[in-house]
Amino acid sequence: GIVVIDYGSQYNQLITRRIRDFGIYSELMPNTITAAEIKEINPKGIILSGGPNSVYDKDAFTIDQEIYKLGIPILGICYGMQLMSYNLGGKVESADNREYGKADIEVTDDSAVLFNGLPKEQFVWMSHGDLVREAPEGFKVVATSKNAPISSIANDEKKMYGIQFHAEVRNTEFGLDILKKFAFDVCGAEANWSMDDFIDQQIEKIREEVGDKKVLLGLSGGVDSSVVGVLLHKAIGTQLTSIFVDHGLLRKNEADQVMESLKGKFGLNIIKVDAQKRFLDKLEGVTDPEKKRKIIGNEFIQVFNDEASKLDGIDFLAQGTLYTDVIESGTSTAQTIKSHHNVGGLPEDMHFKLIEPLRTLFKDETRELGEKLGIPHDLVWRQPFPGPGLGIRVIGEVTQDKLEIVRDSDWILRDEIKKAGLEEEVWQYFTVLPGIRSVGVMGDGRTYDYTVGIRAVTSIDGMTADFAKIPWDVLQKISVRIVNEVDHVNRIVYDITSKPPATIEWE
Ligand code: XMP
Repeated sequence: GIVVIDYGSQYNQLITRRIRDFGIYSELMPNTITAAEIKEINPKGIILSGGPNSVYDKDAFTIDQEIYKLGIPILGICYGMQLMSYNLGGKVESADNREYGKADIEVTDDSAVLFNGLPKEQFVWMSHGDLVREAPEGFKVVATSKNAPISSIANDEKKMYGIQFHAEVRNTEFGLDILKKFAFDVCGAEANWSMDDFIDQQIEKIREEVGDKKVLLGLSGGVDSSVVGVLLHKAIGTQLTSIFVDHGLLRKNEADQVMESLKGKFGLNIIKVDAQKRFLDKLEGVTDPEKKRKIIGNEFIQVFNDEASKLDGIDFLAQGTLYTDVIESGTSTAQTIKSHHNVGGLPEDMHFKLIEPLRTLFKDETRELGEKLGIPHDLVWRQPFPGPGLGIRVIGEVTQDKLEIVRDSDWILRDEIKKAGLEEEVWQYFTVLPGIRSVGVMGDGRTYDYTVGIRAVTSIDGMTADFAKIPWDVLQKISVRIVNEVDHVNRIVYDITSKPPATIEWE
């Protein structure tokens, strides 16, 4: 595969992602990686990512100089190109103007392999403070731009290349072509990485690591932990015990569906804890959203701990940590367990070793893996669902009655969205119970009942979102059904705010 060395650019995940999309295995590695470690991985190529530093910064990220001598092709992107140039005797200076945005480059050398067959003039995405002013010995300048006269350098003999712009982002016109040329033409990598290989590799790895020891897994009802469960079960069967904490804040039928599928279909050994009352008791009288989140998170750990402590001889704890979680917490501190993770955090006094078989996968790759493993489509493509569940969709104090209204109305909403064939189009959709009551009329009588809010958004990653334009007739059906089928509801409103300024959830 191809190793991407991490210099902290916001785009470095994307580089890995793009390479994997070519069918070549790629992993992001911390910049502390040594030449010996790289030799062991034996990659076809190395990419040095961009990053916010200047090579002259006191604490600038650096590289094991021996890596340059391995004879493995290297592509430096932005900071990566500056670092390589600086290390190999070129000159790096701060640019007169920080450049951020689209720029036109001109390919000035016909023999430039990275641009082979591409138009001479193309637009790229620049984002840098420093620039290479003089290429190192043995390198030729192969592309220029107005603000970055040395936009790309090449040393064909040593198979070392640099680009000042970000080939991995869509705003670089021929970025994918350039990365492909590096991966296939320069490195000679082959497109042979697939999810089937991944499953086989992981199963072997898990068996090797676990041996005859026992593993514990916290199931949340979500995609990630379900995939981990099925994968581990495939690898080590009954050596895996799972704990499924039902906090009573899941959607309608969700707990049953998880049990049916994972226990019924796959035969996982699952201890299901019905903890609804514990959670409701703890939440009594609490109205502050962040307090509610904390209580739910803490209680989750408590319940999990209580159950786990009844078990003997467990050495490993499995977690559904994804690549994005790993990267968010920094590749070099990859062992940190994130508190926001679904299981909520680790019991401190239990000294488990961690198993995280998804830690190299992105979310959509995890879904693909889930489908390959035979997990039902509905479960694998489940829309995002927050850890605190319906607890943050009942606005203010959470009570049993209010939970039921949210659960039942949410069920109707999902049913109608499915019937209308909008499941894939709308990114996330749910109902909320703001807790206000208003006057209505039903039959001959006056009612004074709850209002239910419908929230539906389109989004890529949940960071920003637009309210979804669900057709009026679908909304009408949903409205009529909720009022008719859910007790104590007499009014439906549709949330037409985007994020920002609103968030997706109401709490
Ligand atoms: P917001 O409301 O912040 O939501 O726009 C963005 C995405 O994150 C989900 N979300 C959470 N997920 N724990 C989670 O695991 C939480 O406390 C939490 N709060 C929001 C939300 O459902 C949306 O997909």
